[in-house]
Amino acid sequence: MDHTKEIVDLSEKYLSRMYRRFYTFVPDYAEGDTVFTIDGEAYIDLYAGVSIVNVGWSDDRVIEAVEKQLQKMFHISSSYYLEHTARLAKKLAELSPGQALTKSFFTNSGSEANETAISIVRRVTKRPYIMSLHRSFHGRTFYAMSALGQSQWKVGLGPFAPVVFAPDPYCYRCPLGHDSCPECGYACVKYMEDVLRCEVGGEAVAALLAEPMLANGGMVVPPLDYFREVKKVLDKYQILFIADEVQSGNGRTGKLWGIEHFGVIPDAITTSKAIANGLPLGVTLYSQELDSSLKPGEHYSTLGGNALSCAAAMVVLDELTSGLIEQARENGKYFKRSLEALMETHEIIGDVRGEGFFLGMELVKDRKTKEPAKDAAAKLLQEVWKRKVLIGLGGLDGNVVRIEPPLVLTRGHIDKAIVVFDEALKTITQ
Ligand SMILES: Cc1ncc(COP(=O)(O)O)c(C=O)c1O
Repeated sequence: MDHTKEIVDLSEKYLSRMYRRFYTFVPDYAEGDTVFTIDGEAYIDLYAGVSIVNVGWSDDRVIEAVEKQLQKMFHISSSYYLEHTARLAKKLAELSPGQALTKSFFTNSGSEANETAISIVRRVTKRPYIMSLHRSFHGRTFYAMSALGQSQWKVGLGPFAPVVFAPDPYCYRCPLGHDSCPECGYACVKYMEDVLRCEVGGEAVAALLAEPMLANGGMVVPPLDYFREVKKVLDKYQILFIADEVQSGNGRTGKLWGIEHFGVIPDAITTSKAIANGLPLGVTLYSQELDSSLKPGEHYSTLGGNALSCAAAMVVLDELTSGLIEQARENGKYFKRSLEALMETHEIIGDVRGEGFFLGMELVKDRKTKEPAKDAAAKLLQEVWKRKVLIGLGGLDGNVVRIEPPLVLTRGHIDKAIVVFDEALKTITQ
């Protein structure tokens, strides 16, 4: 504990106040689906460092590939032809939705990947606006932040870059007051068209930037036809579609890309986080058609697509497509069913939703009024941590438990986590 205290004290003294921590937890090393503290305590990891390690912590093959590259070269300028970026781009093209996105640009983070995609679509279309969804999250660089739909992350930073917002497909709390979809007639998509017609005109909007499933905004999973309906509106106004797969991609939802659940092929996808199992890599993957309007030198990133991250990403994609995604899909279903079973004894659980290992459990004070149980969720985070399980919280009110474990999470650990949730929920509702 002395060691922990030392690091906590140093952090409080020398690190920015902008870092937000929830408990005195100092991780030291991690393996598979377990994180160990500097005091040697083991925690079941249901958060994967905010979804950054999908093939598991300290994966042997990732380590081996990175170590091998480490001996050769970390990185050199993308002004040269680089074997690692060329090979990774080929693999991404082959694995892109419908094999339709065959061009890659590499950066270092999810924010930059979105920033890059936004620059591309604005350049190509010569249209000034981006459209995005309420409750979305796209990063903290200026345009990505301008396009995120949660004011809590933007307070004091406006005026923002040109963005218009459409209502989110959050059926549990339909922003337009409907009870069920498709009975609502996809009212939120109709409203999206109104946003275009009433605010800036469809011809002023370059692209919709949207997460196929909204993570930070509360683990929101749109109805299966949602993006097909959206695409009709986009096509009508010749608006492009960028799917932000920073969190929903890389096998997280039981398919390689979250958008693959919805039968729609976007014009670009962006990803980061787990693509290189936590090493810095941002990917903007887009169509040949968009690429043909771009010019050499129009975008650049000094460290983007570094050799170590690309080596890791090659292994990650190989492992994901060699059975791990199917395993995660099945184990995710099992986890979801176990969470649904908890609803029978815990009134505070208003909703359980998700696909694969992209799971949300929403806490409410009352199932009828759906008043968010914000304080209870904060307490649950602590109680679960005391029992050595790591989770996250999301949603505008912080009342949605986010479960995004490494995809290698075992059934044994799922069962243990469920026992912990049960005990913790009893404790906070006593
Ligand atoms: C959906 C989504 N997009 C973009 C980002 C930004 O990524 P980064 O923090 O790597 O810039 C995040 C980060 O959480 C995210 O969840």
